[in-house]
Amino acid sequence: MTALETDFSRVSGASRAFLERAPAHFIDGQFVAAVKGGTIATVDPSSGKPISAIAAGTAEDIDAAVAAAKRALSSSAWAGLAPDGRERLMHRLADLIEENIDAIAEIEILDNGMTANFARNLNVGGSINVLRYMAGWPSKITGRTIPVGLPIPGSKYFAATVHEPVGVVGAIIPWNVPFMMAIWKIAPALAAGCTVVVKPAEDACLSVLKLGELVAKAGFPPGVVNIVTGYGAEAGDALVKHPDVAKISFTGSTVIGKRIGALASGALKKVTLELGGKSPTIVFADAELDRAAAGASDLIFLNSGQVCVAGSRLFVERKALDQVVDAVSKRANSLKIGPGLDPATELGPLVSARQQQRVQSYIEGAKSAGATLVAGGQSIDSGGFYVRPTIAVDVKSDMQVVQEEIFGPVLSVMPFDDLEEVIAMANNTVYGLAATVWTRDLKKMHEIVPRLKCGYVAVNTDAVPHWALPQGGVKQSGVGKDLGAESVDSCLETKTLLVRYD
Ligand code: NAI
Ligand code: MG
Repeated sequence: MTALETDFSRVSGASRAFLERAPAHFIDGQFVAAVKGGTIATVDPSSGKPISAIAAGTAEDIDAAVAAAKRALSSSAWAGLAPDGRERLMHRLADLIEENIDAIAEIEILDNGMTANFARNLNVGGSINVLRYMAGWPSKITGRTIPVGLPIPGSKYFAATVHEPVGVVGAIIPWNVPFMMAIWKIAPALAAGCTVVVKPAEDACLSVLKLGELVAKAGFPPGVVNIVTGYGAEAGDALVKHPDVAKISFTGSTVIGKRIGALASGALKKVTLELGGKSPTIVFADAELDRAAAGASDLIFLNSGQVCVAGSRLFVERKALDQVVDAVSKRANSLKIGPGLDPATELGPLVSARQQQRVQSYIEGAKSAGATLVAGGQSIDSGGFYVRPTIAVDVKSDMQVVQEEIFGPVLSVMPFDDLEEVIAMANNTVYGLAATVWTRDLKKMHEIVPRLKCGYVAVNTDAVPHWALPQGGVKQSGVGKDLGAESVDSCLETKTLLVRYD
């Protein structure tokens, strides 16, 4: 690993021009300057060098964006559009994203540090899938007719439910997969007929501004999608508190999620919170161990561990422990670390110096608490925010490294002897996002799945998000669901209709 400069030779002229233009907020269908002048530097995590700057939005910018979203909500151009019109716009946006996949991926790699493979396939490619899936919903949102009678002789009634858009949705998203997170929040809201104000994360949000360009090009009426950049405590807070925002959809840390949830619920807004996780990967000795080890490794090292469903705790049945630890360590040590712009890179830097320090301090903490590192640990000497893939064994369940969300490439491994023991260990955190189970024993599988306290269990495959599958947690991992039909439902209100016609 050599000290690095940002390698602009791998970036297209169009993407460079986009970085140099540093667009401010996208409000009411166009890019507008911030009301106040502050900016936030955009840093390339592979070099630690600034590459652009974004606007530090304030409550004034949020006010303008929410006003535009509120106007659009009842406009004939949007509210008057038939469901198939919404579907066509969403498909057009998906096509435009596909046409611009290289530019979006380049911007995302430079801003967030992710690998090219992750940027193109999971992040942008996954977003296209989400959008096309959600584009199928507008014409399929249906209520029900309900037979009712009342004890009034001769009276006749018709009753039904209809679904209406909840209103303006405020989406606050994180920096780990910015483009995809924006689409996760925007797509179901649009399918439901809502309008949206997105506040991306200050650590990485250029790709979301690029999305603004494509939203305009796709022909969405002005104000349907608005994007305001800025700090959470300022722009984010103003969005949560805005009286004209009907629903807040947040993905990020549990600490901030609780704060936002309390504020939004206090104002009786709808809330979806996708928060932290400490998801277990459970490997029984009867599993296909090669696949299990590869899956376990992918699930913690994907995007350098900066994914909400990262499998950060690995439980292995004792008789398979050595074999699995060996295989996972080999994979960890063989991952090619480097800047995401290099197509050979398998593990990119973390998003920021702050995140690198945070992860490094968990690794130090694990060492001083008595853990043994069988991979990684040492830091990497370069300007970028790299952390080696790290595997800790000899850990105890009360250690910080086992209990807290690290959001880095750090895996804790623990052996188990029986089903009861591993269920207790797997559930022994405040989180409950996802779990992955590897076994060929159907009975074991059916015994363990209902007893895992989490929102998503995958068996013999990794618990990674899929557009059609609801994604969200229980316990301190959140409230409500992203993706799937549930995410569209969460952007709708039910109106009950009762008609007397005798
Ligand atoms: P964060 O929760 O502070 O940031 C997420 C989003 O919330 C950003 O857009 C931020 O600007 C916004 N925000 C922050 N404070 C706010 C406030 N008071 N009101 C409204 N919006 C606010 O997460 P942060 O600090 O960037 O990362 C810290 C840790 O959080 C990570 O190490 C990781 O453990 C966890 N995290 C988890 C994520 C997940 O998907 N589960 C995603 C991002 C972070
Ligand atoms: Mg923060």
